Amino acid sequence: MMMHQQLEGQHVVIAGGSSGMGYGAAEEALRCGAQVTIVGSTKEKTDRAVASLGGTSFGAVADILNEQSLRNLADQLDTIDHLFITASPGGTNRLTDLDFDIKKSYLYGKVWSSLMTVKILLPKISTSGSVTFLTGGFAVKPDGKATLVTGAYAALEGLTEALALELAPIRVNNIRPGMIDSPLWDFMDEKEREDLFAAEKNKNPLHRIGTISDIGRAAVFLMANDYITGDTLDISGGRNIT
Ligand SMILES: NC(=O)c1ccc[n+]([C@@H]2O[C@H](COP(=O)([O-])OP(=O)(O)OC[C@H]3O[C@@H](n4cnc5c(N)ncnc54)[C@H](OP(=O)(O)O)[C@@H]3O)[C@@H](O)[C@H]2O)c1
Repeated sequence: MMMHQQLEGQHVVIAGGSSGMGYGAAEEALRCGAQVTIVGSTKEKTDRAVASLGGTSFGAVADILNEQSLRNLADQLDTIDHLFITASPGGTNRLTDLDFDIKKSYLYGKVWSSLMTVKILLPKISTSGSVTFLTGGFAVKPDGKATLVTGAYAALEGLTEALALELAPIRVNNIRPGMIDSPLWDFMDEKEREDLFAAEKNKNPLHRIGTISDIGRAAVFLMANDYITGDTLDISGGRNIT
């Protein structure tokens, strides 16, 4: 069976689907015939993304770091076949910058929002379905500047394996992207961004920056292949082996 046929009519929920890699996954899932619900924390952005995705896409607004907001989201959703969590409510990146409040750290934001989203949406997830997390290259290549990001990603990669056992037969996987050209980098001016991407391109053997479609195609692959669980797929143009 072709990959696109396996997702035909399935309900894919993407927490973080209003932008970047989540949006890329929404585009790919729609192309595969899925019904897609994208979740973002801001209504305007979510509405805009639904309008540009078109097709069988729907929007829901929720803050995935807020328990009540997630419970309200669960109440709105039908059965979920596949859940992809890309949103990373972030915070402080370095231990030396942290003021003894773990809740202000990226470690807490990323790991706890991912776990709480799964825990609260779990009753809605089909037993033949899947959960996919998103980490990043810092999990295996720390740089000394984003210590708590490394901690968050490494924890989530471990949790991917543990949850694949705990939640089976629901499958649990993870995508570890390299640097991806997404709106995440819009806080930089164009020159700064070009310099960053130019430097990063030289660090992987394919000499290019990833696209949101590279990640979207990996996400639908993990959703559609029902013999993969507990795995992390590195989508970094080979950056992890340099
Ligand atoms: N881009 C890269 O190069 C890269 C590489 C490796 C890892 N990562 C990690 O992957 C994450 C996603 O990257 P991206 O490039 O796809 O970022 P992005 O374009 O900024 O998209 C982030 C998405 O998450 C949503 N979101 C953020 N906080 C939320 C919350 N509390 N509740 C619900 N939704 C929330 C955003 O919507 P709202 O703004 O409406 O909330 C948006 O849809 C990043 O945060 C980063 O930690 C990124």
